[in-house]
Amino acid sequence: MDFNLLPKQRQIRRMAREFAKAELAPIAHEIDDEGRFPWEAVEKMGPLNFFGMQAPRQYGGAGTDSISYCLVIEEISRVCGAMGLTIAVHNSVVVYPLSQFGDDEQKAKFLPPLTAGQKIGSFCLTEPNAGSDAMSIESTAIGEGDSYIVNANKIFVTNGGVADTLVIFTSVKPGDVKKGFSAIIVERGIPGFEVGLLENNSGMRANPVCSIILTDCRVPKANLLGKEGDGFKVAMGALDTGRIGIAAQAVGIGQGSLDVSLKYAKERIQFKTPLARHQAIQMMLADMGTMVEAARLLTLQAAHIKDQGGDLSCPSAMAKLFAGRMASKVASMGVQIHGGYGYSKDYPIERYFRDARVTEIYEGTNEIQQIVIARELLKREVD
Ligand code: CAA
Repeated sequence: MDFNLLPKQRQIRRMAREFAKAELAPIAHEIDDEGRFPWEAVEKMGPLNFFGMQAPRQYGGAGTDSISYCLVIEEISRVCGAMGLTIAVHNSVVVYPLSQFGDDEQKAKFLPPLTAGQKIGSFCLTEPNAGSDAMSIESTAIGEGDSYIVNANKIFVTNGGVADTLVIFTSVKPGDVKKGFSAIIVERGIPGFEVGLLENNSGMRANPVCSIILTDCRVPKANLLGKEGDGFKVAMGALDTGRIGIAAQAVGIGQGSLDVSLKYAKERIQFKTPLARHQAIQMMLADMGTMVEAARLLTLQAAHIKDQGGDLSCPSAMAKLFAGRMASKVASMGVQIHGGYGYSKDYPIERYFRDARVTEIYEGTNEIQQIVIARELLKREVD
């Protein structure tokens, strides 16, 4: 097993790190505080290919491997979790399923503006009565001639406030959701399309997470992604990939928490010596660094398996479960090292602490990951 990154992967990581330091570090606190989506930084990410990292080159994508993708998400999230989230969702659960399940016309129409970052993507699965139990969606798409009439109430839509291209999960057979579960591409602004309530979330506040309501929206049947009834597999396939991106995001938040805690521990004097010289603090830092590294390895292993074409469900669930828990724990330890200042919005560790928590929830809660992992483990023969 070779744990070394390729020169190209190192170069991509360096580029993402430099971008994050130059463009995101100066605004990360302010955009969180104001709950503002930073278009000025987003516009600079397009030319760097951050919005089409793994998409085919013929549609403007960079066609990079999954390890490079994780390194970029990690470096962005290390500085600004909300922007890590924006590009992770856009790439993993919008551009990826379009690239995988879209027909040639759909790819030619929808991918180029998405991969260029001129349009932002959203993945709309969750509803008021369908969260972890994704099969319980109530949204419908009723065929009428060469269109569907779509009625949907989608909540917690990441990027929702700024998204132009949305993958919406509905049922074309309202009486039989399992058979009718379908993925449909919807464009912002068509008649009946409404951006609803902006969530007043605890963390990731620069990402406009909101509800999307479709009322009698007429959508061409040409926008069906895959076949009628294939939607659950499209959603689960996208989430298998997406969970690696969220794991990378959690690694970035963990690393960012460690970075600021190391710096603070060297600067802060207590009992006439820097915190870093106190053994209790050193032990915390050692545990934090070890946990970040373990989560990184699990995440890059899942990315490697994806690139090898292996079965992703279990490795991506393991990476997300472990990395999400790690990010919450490491950020919390970082708050502890900062003492009273760690509880103040004036210090970045407070933002990492809030941002970390949701990596244990979205794209499948820890408990959903445990279900996916346990099902896979129980299938295996014990030697
Ligand atoms: N890939 C392909 N197909 C899959 C699959 C996968 N990973 N997982 C399941 N399927 C298929 C199954 O093979 C089965 O097919 P058949 O009917 O042909 O046999 C079908 O899908 C149903 O599978 P299950 O019986 O396993 O379905 P289930 O109802 O028990 O659900 C679950 C399984 C794992 C719990 C699933 O519902 C799940 O992952 N839930 C969590 C949903 C989730 O992550 N939501 C987050 C939303 S996105 C978000 O967070 C917002 C954002 O923008 C960040």
